[in-house]
Amino acid sequence: MSQRLVVIGSQWGDEGKGKITDFFACRADMVVRFQGGNNAGHSVMFNGKKYSLQSIPSGIFNPSTVNIMGNGMVVNPESVVVELQKLRDQGITDFQLFISDRAAMVMPWHADLDGAYEAQKGNKLIGTTKKGIGPAYCDKYSRSGLRMGDLLEPDYFAQRLHDAMVIKNRELEMLGLPSYDYQKVYKRFMDLAEILGPRITDTSYLINKYLREEDKKILFEGAQGMMLCIDHGTYPYVTSSTPSAASVPVGAGIAPQWINNVLGVAKAYCTRVGEGPFPTELFDEIANEIRERGHEYGTVTGRPRRIGWFDAVVARYTSQIAGISSWALMLFDVLSGLKTVKICTHYELDGKIVETPPSTISKLSRCKPVYIELPGWNEDISGIKSFDELPQNAKNYVRKIEEITGVPVGVLSVGPDRSQTILISPLLQEF
Ligand code: GDP
Ligand code: IMO
Ligand code: MG
Repeated sequence: MSQRLVVIGSQWGDEGKGKITDFFACRADMVVRFQGGNNAGHSVMFNGKKYSLQSIPSGIFNPSTVNIMGNGMVVNPESVVVELQKLRDQGITDFQLFISDRAAMVMPWHADLDGAYEAQKGNKLIGTTKKGIGPAYCDKYSRSGLRMGDLLEPDYFAQRLHDAMVIKNRELEMLGLPSYDYQKVYKRFMDLAEILGPRITDTSYLINKYLREEDKKILFEGAQGMMLCIDHGTYPYVTSSTPSAASVPVGAGIAPQWINNVLGVAKAYCTRVGEGPFPTELFDEIANEIRERGHEYGTVTGRPRRIGWFDAVVARYTSQIAGISSWALMLFDVLSGLKTVKICTHYELDGKIVETPPSTISKLSRCKPVYIELPGWNEDISGIKSFDELPQNAKNYVRKIEEITGVPVGVLSVGPDRSQTILISPLLQEF
């Protein structure tokens, strides 16, 4: 029977999913992205070189791993071609990549509309990545969108494109934006079809084949994080997909019973890029210290990330709704040198203690974090290879997170490089 591992973000994205996926991908036969698109920015580092991926799965560096961009993604073919070229320029030439024929396609006007919708929001803007992710998902669900498989049938694609462009050009004109020329778009997409065509296939069939094979290891790589989830996140300051393990069956085209081992990636503190409530946010010198030490600037947009203490209210909430069975606790090295470290255990809302994040941002913005404070540690832990070697206070911090969240820490990350990873859970060692 195959082994499966789901890697998902448990906070507001950028938790280190790329690093963890790459770490396990060294032994995985298949890596599957199942939601989101090139709004993701996943960093991978090994042999002293750093790589950044947006739509392409983080298993791409292992030539024997089959990488899949699943049907639940929104795929921008132009950006995939650019990303592939960037990888080749960096010497990554030997890889396997397939794209679902059922994945929704991000069209050039989606980014324009993303920007225009944001501009209309004034000071209530979401702070999207402006990649057109929201508008592309909207078109998918309004059933007017195009899909990657359409590219393989030029006549069918021509008709679908024509129908979509009649509506979209009208919308662009209404917003005062330039419209698109049908012939030019058609020609460009036929060129893209020639480049990507051989990779576009029924990926659900490929995944299901591997699922039923003995000894195959399949990794599902989430993008974004649970607090950016369209259903469970800080709505409306969220992305347009569900970054949960619950998305895997739909977004990869498999049955739900295959999903049982979910690694929740969490920073040892919290960050958020873009707007929206963030209860443990820090505005003092500690935030600057963490930002600089952790290089907390967006991989996609370069925006400085907002910084806060570890939020166990969020961790408990996301572990329950996403079925997280263990944590990958990341950027632990960044906390070295702090006199004290804090963990938010509860919120106080209008004089009452609350255990889970309220559903509206008006209430969440009023939540005041209740902290426990633990003594920090000074030692540089970035070279440490086992849990036992950690300073006692660092061990205490990990144990406290396990105790408060009720979920064990299975992996500890003490630096961006693949080698700076400590496997704690025996279950994960088997993967
Ligand atoms: P993702 O979107 O979840 O894949 O995360 P990003 O790649 O956007 O952001 C995580 C950042 O932290 C990247 O710059 C990583 O190279 C870096 N990183 C990951 N793990 C560690 C760690 O344990 N320590 C340090 N210092 N940096 C890390
Ligand atoms: P990874 O996979 C962090 C945020 C944006 C914005 C909101 C909506 O690297 O963790 P969108 O463009 O998706 O409509 O933006 O979601 N966001 C992310 N923040 N990491 C990401 O991906 C993100 N993807 C989207 O900043 O607040
Ligand atoms: Mg990222």
